[in-house]
Amino acid sequence: MTRTILVCCGTGCRANGSMDVSLALTAAVAAAAADANVCCVTETGCSGLCELGPLVRIMPDDIMYYRVRPFDAHEIIQKTVLAGEPIERLLFKDSSGNHVLHQADNPFYGHQKKIALRNVGIIDSRSIDEYIAHGGYSALARALEMTSDEIIREVEESGIRGRGGAGFPTGRKWRSAAVLESSPKYVICNGDEGDPGAFMDGSIMDGDPHSVLEGMMIGALAIGAEEGFLYIRDEYIQAVKSMKKAIRAAEKRGLLGESILGTNRKLYFSVVRGGGAFVCGESTALMSSIEGNVGEPRAKYIHSVEKGLWGCPTVINNVETWTNIPFIINAGGKKFAEIGTEGSTGTKVFALVGKVKYTGLVEVPMGITLRKLIFEIGGGIPNNRKFKAVQTGGPSGGCIPASLLDIPVDFDTLKEYGTMMGSGGMIVMDDHSCMVEFARYYVNFLCGESCGKCTPCREGLRHMQSILTNICSGYGREGDIELLEMIGSTMIDCSLCALGSSAPNPVLTTIRYFRDEYEAHIREHRCPAGVCKALTAFSVNHATCKGCMACNAVCPTRAIVRLNGGFPIITKSCDGCGSCRDVCRFNAIEAVKGGRV
Ligand code: SF4
Ligand code: SF4
Ligand code: FES
Repeated sequence: MTRTILVCCGTGCRANGSMDVSLALTAAVAAAAADANVCCVTETGCSGLCELGPLVRIMPDDIMYYRVRPFDAHEIIQKTVLAGEPIERLLFKDSSGNHVLHQADNPFYGHQKKIALRNVGIIDSRSIDEYIAHGGYSALARALEMTSDEIIREVEESGIRGRGGAGFPTGRKWRSAAVLESSPKYVICNGDEGDPGAFMDGSIMDGDPHSVLEGMMIGALAIGAEEGFLYIRDEYIQAVKSMKKAIRAAEKRGLLGESILGTNRKLYFSVVRGGGAFVCGESTALMSSIEGNVGEPRAKYIHSVEKGLWGCPTVINNVETWTNIPFIINAGGKKFAEIGTEGSTGTKVFALVGKVKYTGLVEVPMGITLRKLIFEIGGGIPNNRKFKAVQTGGPSGGCIPASLLDIPVDFDTLKEYGTMMGSGGMIVMDDHSCMVEFARYYVNFLCGESCGKCTPCREGLRHMQSILTNICSGYGREGDIELLEMIGSTMIDCSLCALGSSAPNPVLTTIRYFRDEYEAHIREHRCPAGVCKALTAFSVNHATCKGCMACNAVCPTRAIVRLNGGFPIITKSCDGCGSCRDVCRFNAIEAVKGGRV
């Protein structure tokens, strides 16, 4: 039987050496070719479980190997491919210590449902033939035989809402643009993913670029556009390459250009590289940037579906939204609407990161609970630590505490609790995370990213930054919390764009759910999580310390010394970084009140 070996060459696995694994497997296949007609090696996009990469999957047997190294290649070919024997040490081990052979039996994958990621990690993204062999461009062919109204009705029936953040109904947006008589019209793909920790859109563009193009082509047919742009953040070198290559391949096949598949419809797409400004993820700033102007937002009293790019009707959707469209056209809007919840249909892709055992790229039905996502798919919190909070929606979102782990993940519920879906970044925090410092981190980030055009955002963020820095440094004052709340509500009401109006969310949700931590910083000069250096000292609990000296090995300032050849002590050279506490398996290092204040 001819087998295919899928080697994950997404960004995470690439960083862990998957290109070398791919080369070694190719060489091992060539060496074994004399014995049998074995297989081919295919480099794919992100397979999901980045934490345990590089990942290798052997098809059609569906044997999945984790943390594969180049020196494993020969054994994989000889044992698994030729002799059909699994290699235990490369298999996933579940929580009971059992080896898991197939991807579908791994709990990380078992609870997922893949629509947007249907080809990511399965096909060679560089090959249009592979995309077509997996059903690609069949939705475009179908759409070419449909009227604009029929296409839009499917999208409306699907109930899909924009995956970029705001959750606006996609079908409604398309219809508003389709009914306008004016020309030209444009479609745009927003690939300016800039949230810290997010890599959903980059992974889709890198791992399945044709599905994005196909979705955009269908959108263009529906609204009557003949030109489209993919705005991709400059740092996504792989995604830019991948999308450009896909556009060229589609042009060669007559899927783009003067005559789409021999019809009288024409369509041209091009890639625009973003300059690295987070604000350009905001639709009006993004369009301004494409036009060659400074990427600053404008007031949205006229919607961009009416006057968008160069003042023309424009439909802008993000990468994940576009990639769902071919599925909707092929399977029918109704089928898509059967997945998820009534108000949030379909699935959602998340980049699950932070203090969670299995970090990676996941796609789950809308309505799944945070508990299931973090504990069943993500495997829970590493090192037996306690879950503290999860940030959804990146810098524009908010945090959700442990008491709300059972709420469903959908657009409206997250909003109700002060956060938002955002584009899908999900950062998990354990009890070693300080919520005040966490809010300060995001405010710092946004301070650097605010374009400065409107006062509430520009000044509000700076003022918040200074208050939060003072609190974390031990100089917080009574009334600071109330002041933060007041600034936050002014920013929400008065900022020009979504960056400013959502920027206070991390601050307001941490105050809402962790007010006691703010109070401990201000009133007691204490950081309960032991993170704020100015307020924290570390001490060794000699009753639980086992003298293993793991702490000594990680201390960057050599502040840990042995006591009479036995247990360690922390000296005055301690910098307060907390690395020793993180590494101690016996919880023998405790954060106590202290530090420089
Ligand atoms: S790592 Fe923990 S148990 Fe080991 S010596 Fe340091 S404090 Fe003691
Ligand atoms: S907190 Fe950092 S600097 Fe201080 S003892 Fe621990 S590892 Fe060393
Ligand atoms: S990059 Fe390989 S699993 Fe994500």
